[in-house]
Amino acid sequence: MQANGFAKLANGHDVGCNGAGGKKLLTLDDVNPSVRAIAYAIRGPINDRANQLDSDLRNGKKLPFDKLIRCNVGDAPAMGQKPMTFYRQLLACCAYPDASTQYPADVQALSKRFLDACHGRTIGSYISNPQGLEVVRQDIAKFIQERDGGIPAYANEIFLFTGAGDGIVCILNILNTTSAGKKPIGLMVPIPTFAYYTSCIDEIGLKEIPYYLDEENSWQLNVDELNRAINNRDDCDPKILVVINPGNPTGQVLTKDNIQQIIRFAAEKNLIIMADEVYQDNIHDSSQKFHSFKKTIADMGHPYCDMELISLHSASKGLMNECGARGGYVEFHNFDQEVLDQLRKLLSIRSSPSTGQLATFAMVNLPKPGDPSYDLFIKERESTRSSLVQRARMTTELLNNIPGMHCNAVQGAMYAFPRLDLPEKFIQEAKTKGRAADLHYVMQLMDSKGVVIVPGSGFRQQPGTYHFRTTILPPVDLLHEMLEKLADFHTNLMKKYA
Ligand SMILES: Cc1ncc(COP(=O)(O)O)c(C=O)c1O
Repeated sequence: MQANGFAKLANGHDVGCNGAGGKKLLTLDDVNPSVRAIAYAIRGPINDRANQLDSDLRNGKKLPFDKLIRCNVGDAPAMGQKPMTFYRQLLACCAYPDASTQYPADVQALSKRFLDACHGRTIGSYISNPQGLEVVRQDIAKFIQERDGGIPAYANEIFLFTGAGDGIVCILNILNTTSAGKKPIGLMVPIPTFAYYTSCIDEIGLKEIPYYLDEENSWQLNVDELNRAINNRDDCDPKILVVINPGNPTGQVLTKDNIQQIIRFAAEKNLIIMADEVYQDNIHDSSQKFHSFKKTIADMGHPYCDMELISLHSASKGLMNECGARGGYVEFHNFDQEVLDQLRKLLSIRSSPSTGQLATFAMVNLPKPGDPSYDLFIKERESTRSSLVQRARMTTELLNNIPGMHCNAVQGAMYAFPRLDLPEKFIQEAKTKGRAADLHYVMQLMDSKGVVIVPGSGFRQQPGTYHFRTTILPPVDLLHEMLEKLADFHTNLMKKYA
């Protein structure tokens, strides 16, 4: 035995040498460099600082504000949005069927259908079909078909995931062909973007082909810009075009005309569109409509209707907002069955939670007129919808009232992404601190007002421009208070650094 209390092994190493004071066996040097390079602004340093301030407030430390207003994550339940009674009753009924008679007959019937599909008739069992429960996939197919005016959808083209985010990562994973000695596959991603697409591209061995959204044209896609982005990309094999509609972080809803242009571009360049449509139920501007890529390619006829298309949806967003349940689906339209078999194989070594599949099942089986749950469901849904419409309008209007801020209308999704005209002195100060100017802005705002938002640099943006993303999710009064604090902060900053 040595003085440090550890015995020596025959190879000279200490037994238990990874204990306190000892050298760790696994160090940062051993961690995959691509994983170390991942930067996820939403949950990174901003979240850490917000948690620190939160704990300071709880411990009675005196700060210039009495509460944090968190507008950094698209998490409606965390911001106090009431859950839908219908879904929670279904969850309760499936989790504890002995009490099922307390719930409306339509909830009981749905619960029975779901449990009949589970092994042992319980949500506590593993879901053995790697693609997801058949009954859920069939109901999703029916839901898509009804949404798209009767264009057929098939259960065997639908895959259930632990949230749409998990679907994104799985899809990207099956596209890594570099180990087979091929050129990496190129993925066209919108900038500003939802960071899941960019943060895991390198990790997975793909190449990013960034294209800028057109801020001057309500963040629509611009075909000239798509062409610019893809031309001369000899370092990869461009294969996927990611489109997020409605947009995160930019809050736009793409027009039908724009979607048709994108489809023609993709067809001409032999690209598969990956349509991230998780916000399809979040349209706040009555002059806008959600157009699914699936219906649009079908309506355009040949050759477009035969294009391979990936589309994603989630139970985390929309008006249900059950993001903690972790449920989402991906539809692979017109795909080679051998490719889908590989995806099934990949999924067979994981097991997705029954709660996520149940949330997705609820999302596509909403109460219908005449069902006992219908009236309450409509009341709750419409109250959430109209409040979001009000919050989207108020956010656009109040942000645009602040001198030095310009915000495209929040047409959909849950976010505003205004551009900031920052004074040169402030930009220089940020530089001396080694921070992006918009991160410096966001940190100062948080420290002085308790308002938590995410800098545009976390989503990427045109060089030389500065933005931030805020959600529109706090309740109306709190959102109003947040926007007033922001206006006050911004006005003082403009004066101070003029
Ligand atoms: C555009 C977009 N796609 C996908 C997701 C992932 O959603 P989830 O994994 O919660 O289903 C999100 C979540 O914020 C998102 O904004």
